[in-house]
Amino acid sequence: FALGLLAGRHVLINAGPTREAIDPVRYISNYSSGKMGFALAEAAAEAGARVTLVAGPVNLTTPPRVERIDVVSARDMLAACEMALPADVFIASAAVADYRPAEAADAKLKKDPGSDSGMQLELVRNPDILATLAAHAQRPWCVGFAAETHDVLSYARDKLQRKNLDLIIANDVSQPDIGFNSDDNSVTLIDRSLHQQHLPQASKSKLAREIIHLIAGYLPAQPE
Ligand code: C5P
Repeated sequence: FALGLLAGRHVLINAGPTREAIDPVRYISNYSSGKMGFALAEAAAEAGARVTLVAGPVNLTTPPRVERIDVVSARDMLAACEMALPADVFIASAAVADYRPAEAADAKLKKDPGSDSGMQLELVRNPDILATLAAHAQRPWCVGFAAETHDVLSYARDKLQRKNLDLIIANDVSQPDIGFNSDDNSVTLIDRSLHQQHLPQASKSKLAREIIHLIAGYLPAQPE
């Protein structure tokens, strides 16, 4: 594997889910394992990059030579990513919660013992971390993921354009043996000129190396 491919580059990666507090003991989150992002961080470090990995709550060990910053909520993740700029590349593999409770209660919410009625939880939109970094004054080369259950490639192309990305990695999460929580994945990369490249099912670490290799090929040459 091409060892010095990313020498001198700073690669910023986010990974895992975010947790959005309802009260001190409850939250909204998702099933993201963070495995793909950690595999990408490992592969980027192997390729010689300086790697900053901003991680939501996951049960994974930090790859060698990777600087890891742990966060909980989407807003914390955005702040940590912005703090890590400038970067040559940003790979947004995190499954950021799209919404958070409008207010996190200071004390544990109690159910009304005298009633069987339900409750309403008001949600507000979270910031889009990837779109924010893609519009930043210190804009890195931006890579997004599109995890979809249907019309995978057309949604991915739409996200590439809407979020102004350089590359999107489309991922069919309707198949149980690949994607979200599994060890294998199969993806299709789509670049700005809508050139498509399919990477067949393989372990996330093998795919991560292939993805890092392809990303390195897109980067503008470094000043001498
Ligand atoms: O719009 P959607 O969530 O499907 O887009 C997926 C891509 O956008 C992923 O790369 C994800 O990390 C990123 N994203 C983000 N902030 C959000 C939602 C998604 O950075 N609030």
